Amino acid sequence: MSQRRERFFATCAPGLEPVLHEELKTLGLSKVERQTGGVYFEGSLADALRANLWLRTAIRVLMRVARFEAKDADALYERAREVDWNRFVRPEGTLIVDAHSKESALDHTLFIEQRVKDAIVDAVRAKHGTRPSVAKENADLGVYAHLFRDRCTLLVDTSGESLHKRGWRAFQGRAPLAETFAAALVLLSKWNGRAPLIDPFCGSGTLLVEAAWIAENRAPGLLRASFGLERWSESEAALAARLRSEARAAQRPSKALLVGRDRDPKTIQGAMENVDAAGLAGRIALDVGEALELEPRKGWNAWLLSNLPYGGRIGDQREVTELYRRFGRWLREHCAGFHVGLLVERGKLSATLALSNPVHHPILNGGLECEFLLSEVAQP
Ligand SMILES: C[S@@+](CC[C@H](N)C(=O)[O-])C[C@H]1O[C@@H](n2cnc3c(N)ncnc32)[C@H](O)[C@@H]1O
Repeated sequence: MSQRRERFFATCAPGLEPVLHEELKTLGLSKVERQTGGVYFEGSLADALRANLWLRTAIRVLMRVARFEAKDADALYERAREVDWNRFVRPEGTLIVDAHSKESALDHTLFIEQRVKDAIVDAVRAKHGTRPSVAKENADLGVYAHLFRDRCTLLVDTSGESLHKRGWRAFQGRAPLAETFAAALVLLSKWNGRAPLIDPFCGSGTLLVEAAWIAENRAPGLLRASFGLERWSESEAALAARLRSEARAAQRPSKALLVGRDRDPKTIQGAMENVDAAGLAGRIALDVGEALELEPRKGWNAWLLSNLPYGGRIGDQREVTELYRRFGRWLREHCAGFHVGLLVERGKLSATLALSNPVHHPILNGGLECEFLLSEVAQP
């Protein structure tokens, strides 16, 4: 496998860059540099595999393969044609190109995709006599072309399917958090992995499952069948197998108490299916019930993390405002000393909770402007 150092860009939801940055540094990767929408780092293909296997908040890990000026279609084609595409795709394989353009002479993204695709298939045909085909679904190779002020960056996708697809989700629910997003919230909350963790509006159980995997030091990519770069050559696939067995050995048991509740019986049934699929049967206590009737035990010193019902999407606005007001009071009455992390829609609702000195993290959750509020419930 190539030891060559490459430049990678791990993408994430806007607002989560600091969490991803921290994760990459913890993995020991070098030249880690934060940008909007993701974090750059440098490393070998083995590092990229490790990143795919271990990053909890990244959506994809892309590898930069070229950067050049492209003011017209010929320059785009010629420079794209210089990339060694035979490294990444075989003639019998499939590919897809996705283009974005901003403030550039070449601004027709379909045309950019077409020219880059032509360059790739011509490069493969020149070597093998036959060419890969285009596939919209499950392509062997994903290529991204980004044009900004006439400079084109070409990246190849090392992840394949989005990394939020961990392989444990059997049930969706009504407004589930993305797995990558939920993991980021747990990391932002600085949960210590030992204290009880409660989600009284747990829905499909995303926060609880991701928290349990963090506590067990379980690599988030362990249940996935493969990553995109394993299709590049046999040596990458062999290395991935080794990294997976190392990751399995790094897993450790956790005794942390995890508690989830939702008032909807079908949702709790679905959350149980997810918990089972995640290999966590018996590890998370789930029940059907009203959040505000939960009675945390005194002296738990727990973390309460939750994605509260949204005003706009679920339920009626007035009802939700009332729920937030009552929930804020319930926290003060029942959860003194708890660490609280609540994901709410940005706006007036958060003030209704009346948390004490909350830290606000603005986050975009599936296009919805949200904020993650971190606070500690005051002791009486
Ligand atoms: C935004 S969703 C949570 C989604 C969850 N984080 C996930 O990833 O699937 C909010 C959940 O709160 C539940 N809910 C709403 N009001 C509730 C209440 N008063 N008590 C308990 N659960 C409630 C809803 O059934 C819904 O599943």
